[in-house]
Amino acid sequence: MPSHAPYGPAEDTWLLEDALKNLRQVVRSVEVGCGTGYITKILSEKSLEVIAIEKDAQSAYEAEKNLKNNLYNIHIVVADGFDPIRTSAEIDLIVSNPPYLPLDEAFYDMAIHGGPTGVEVTEMIVKQALPYLQRKGELFIISSSLGNQKKLFETISSLRLKVEIISTKRFFFEELSCLKIFYSPHE
Ligand SMILES: C[S@@+](CC[C@H](N)C(=O)[O-])C[C@H]1O[C@@H](n2cnc3c(N)ncnc32)[C@H](O)[C@@H]1O
Repeated sequence: MPSHAPYGPAEDTWLLEDALKNLRQVVRSVEVGCGTGYITKILSEKSLEVIAIEKDAQSAYEAEKNLKNNLYNIHIVVADGFDPIRTSAEIDLIVSNPPYLPLDEAFYDMAIHGGPTGVEVTEMIVKQALPYLQRKGELFIISSSLGNQKKLFETISSLRLKVEIISTKRFFFEELSCLKIFYSPHE
């Protein structure tokens, strides 16, 4: 049974927030899956322009309400992944706290379920981010030990991308990581 409550900030959001704290200012950033806009606000302070993409219209509506004082440099778009962005666009920073749990037979929530092994939405984001990463961008993305991280890391490596684990947080049942993914053809 599908469920679509907008996703409010939680432990994974705060792990991503911590990773963004020391980043330099950038020209253009993109957030995939902005939810109710907590991370989007931080990006708006670090970027001249933010494109916040959200698949769930209700969440995008909540984000727009929460961000009403910051909308001078934020575009909130209801869309799937990078669909609204031209591949030729210059993007310095890509950020996502994607749905990362394996599908549950009892119910489906697009805010938390990331595909059969939990990493399929993340793999989609990494593949779609590739042209921007190949130019200059960096991708910061949350990942969970409950998903198939081995499969995810193999996909990242097959795209000739590098991954660094920026930070981790352990809970009794899972470990969350913030990954930094970037292109490094010469290593
Ligand atoms: C874990 S929540 C994170 C929300 C918020 N960014 C945060 O950190 O608190 C994941 C969000 O991604 C959205 N989402 C899932 N799949 C998406 C897709 N293919 N394209 C855009 N947004 C997506 C969900 O609707 C949800 O709002």
